[in-house]
Amino acid sequence: MIKVISFSGLCFVLLISLFNCSSNSGKPDTTSIKFTQYVVRGEELYQKHCSNCHQKNGSGLGLVYPPLNTSDYMNQNFEKVLCLMKYGLKEPITVNGKSFVQPMPGVVTLTDLEIAEIATYIYNSWDHNRGIVDVAEASRVIKACTSVNQ
Ligand code: HEC
Repeated sequence: MIKVISFSGLCFVLLISLFNCSSNSGKPDTTSIKFTQYVVRGEELYQKHCSNCHQKNGSGLGLVYPPLNTSDYMNQNFEKVLCLMKYGLKEPITVNGKSFVQPMPGVVTLTDLEIAEIATYIYNSWDHNRGIVDVAEASRVIKACTSVNQ
């Protein structure tokens, strides 16, 4: 009897890991519990630190605050976006063909995990569907932030 139980237990573990393997190949992770936690916490942090300027719905504000809901800049500058949350941005940029010149202040107290959560939220809301931005990936990027942001 004990043998039977442990055998089915092993099958169960194998099944789970097989399922995980297949769901990780190719498509972005948007279904795991971890993804959901990141999005929920990321949204809270976004409301607290970002929505004053970029608005709750990510629309931005005229030519003062650039939009996040649809942003070619976000699509093309993933690393810079992670860095600017923490260190701000002082160079003029073009978003969807419009110029923005006002500097953005960073939130230097954000941890790598918080940046990963905010990034997961903004990169999977509105027009974006990137999948999870894991804390390990965020840490790697943030270590390499350049002086453009600082
Ligand atoms: C005080 C207003 C303000 C706050 C708060 C703020 N931003 Fe910004 N953000 C700006 C401005 C202004 C720019 C343009 C900076 C430039 O041109 O150098 C910008 C640029 C950006 C960009 C790149 C341009 C784009 O639209 O894709 C992203 C992404 C971004 N901010 C995300 C965030 C996130 C995430 C937070 C919260 C952690 C945040 N911002 C907080 C004002 C703000």
